[in-house]
Amino acid sequence: MKILSIETSCDETAAAVIENGHILANVVASQINIHKKTGGVVPEVASRAHVEKIIPVIDEALDTAKTKLDDIDAIAVTTGPGLVGSLLVGVEAAKTLAYAINKPIIPINHLEGHIYANWINYEPKLPAVALTVSGGHTSLIYIKKINELKVIGETLDDAAGEAYDKVAQILGLGYPGGPAIDQACLKDKSKIKIDLPRPMLDRNDFSFSGLKTAVLYKVMKLKLDAKTKNQVANEFQKAMVETLVSKTIETAKKRKAKTVLLSGGVAANKFLRSELEKVARDNGFEFHVPEFQYCTDNAAMIARAAEIKLQNKKPRDWSQIEANANLGL
Ligand code: KG4
Ligand code: ZN
Repeated sequence: MKILSIETSCDETAAAVIENGHILANVVASQINIHKKTGGVVPEVASRAHVEKIIPVIDEALDTAKTKLDDIDAIAVTTGPGLVGSLLVGVEAAKTLAYAINKPIIPINHLEGHIYANWINYEPKLPAVALTVSGGHTSLIYIKKINELKVIGETLDDAAGEAYDKVAQILGLGYPGGPAIDQACLKDKSKIKIDLPRPMLDRNDFSFSGLKTAVLYKVMKLKLDAKTKNQVANEFQKAMVETLVSKTIETAKKRKAKTVLLSGGVAANKFLRSELEKVARDNGFEFHVPEFQYCTDNAAMIARAAEIKLQNKKPRDWSQIEANANLGL
């Protein structure tokens, strides 16, 4: 079975083709250069960029997969959560194509995509605990069976990636903030510590707005030269990673998980990957993080989620799906 998948929930226009677990194409047109100018995503600008890119991206995915549209058996598309103007572009494209070729649609939740990215070229041992960290989410998920996802904790305010982006803005390090802070940390050689909070360690949910505000107050008291910026970036990253690792491992222990999974755009962070892997393995868990191209927003993860969902859910007719900015798991 061949599935064409489409993902436009935020600022990447993406399409992929999958056939029985094999990714035949994974095309992503990133809008990062457009949003750099404004230091963040302007929703209206994002949806216009999706309109321009959606057809060329789908065409490229089909070409790369050496597949004609007529050979596609179903279309998977992210229906939410995300920016509604962005989601609409992908959803309308999927509906139009499904109608044209008379094939069903598999609606996918963006978060399911990030979680099931762990099933690309890998079969995690279950039960598992998955940490999904991106610009829009910070979620701890318990996976008892492949089709049973239970949300254990979520962010009450800023997502982890959002906190990275905002702290980078406070420090004047540029957009997107995650990679910029990652770089700044590597340059920090100072021995002096700047104390920052590790928020809500005893709770399942996350909250990062207090950490962000703590950075802002520290910065107001400091002379912000290049050295201090690197130092604050490093302390922020340590606080963030310690919080994420501690909550994930505690949950994995409580739930008697076999595997700890990490995914989402912030999983690109080397320090987070290495710390979580080390602590997970030290505690006897298996650990897995998808390849980098499947961590940041992409359509391959949507395609894989669609294959997994098809195991016990029927696909839908084009007329039955719609974009939902606040779609829950
Ligand atoms: O999953 P993703 O591509 O989009 C959303 O669904 O939001 O994640 C984007 C987020 C951004 O906030 C970006 O700053 C963060 O992932 N990010 C990183 C790194 N690379 C990207 N955060 C920390 N360290 C990185 N190396
Ligand atoms: Zn995402």
